[in-house]
Amino acid sequence: MKLFLDSANITYVEEIAAWGVLDGVTTNPSLVAKEGGDFRQTVLAMCQIVPCVSAQVTATESAEMIAQGTEYSSWHKHIVVKVPMTTEGLKAIHHFSGKGIKTNTTLVFSVPQAILAAKAGATMISPFIGRLDDIGEDGMRLIADIMEVWRHERFSTEVLVASTRHPRHIVDAAKLGAHICTVPYEVFKKLPMHPLTDSGLQKFLSDWQKVQK
Ligand code: E4P
Repeated sequence: MKLFLDSANITYVEEIAAWGVLDGVTTNPSLVAKEGGDFRQTVLAMCQIVPCVSAQVTATESAEMIAQGTEYSSWHKHIVVKVPMTTEGLKAIHHFSGKGIKTNTTLVFSVPQAILAAKAGATMISPFIGRLDDIGEDGMRLIADIMEVWRHERFSTEVLVASTRHPRHIVDAAKLGAHICTVPYEVFKKLPMHPLTDSGLQKFLSDWQKVQK
């Protein structure tokens, strides 16, 4: 499973990429607004570090989505145009697919939406599991259902598990065979941690010190 960082913070991208585990970055208008700065420069800086950077269109009509996404894709070959899961978005995704422009369908909350995005030619779809959990539904159940459909349909569209909230989401997504998981910085920092690793290392180091002259 590929691991993406869900952030528009370039310092965070540099930090996690240095671990050698980062396959891409997802941004969205809220994340970009939180960080401030120039959107194009931010995205281009990330493209220097990872091979896949999702940049979301903010238009809502397909013609404008196409214009915006075409411009984004001209900035760098690592850019994936992120398009919301609407009927206008489907038209834009279909257009981009015909042009060989990669897309990530965002705000997917149901299996029918996932199927439509895949049929329109999306490179990736992003089911938002945390937001489903937030309203008392089972986000991971959606991933299980989508992966079951994918096994029958053999769609080439990658399933990108989004809106993750804790390490268990990453484990469960991997066990279900999801292709990608995008992880917020705070959750990413928890992934390498284990108290037994810390105490074990402490013991090794203190034992080693005892025999040093
Ligand atoms: C995915 O690409 C989105 O940016 C993200 O995962 C949304 O997560 P949130 O529900 O924590 O805002």
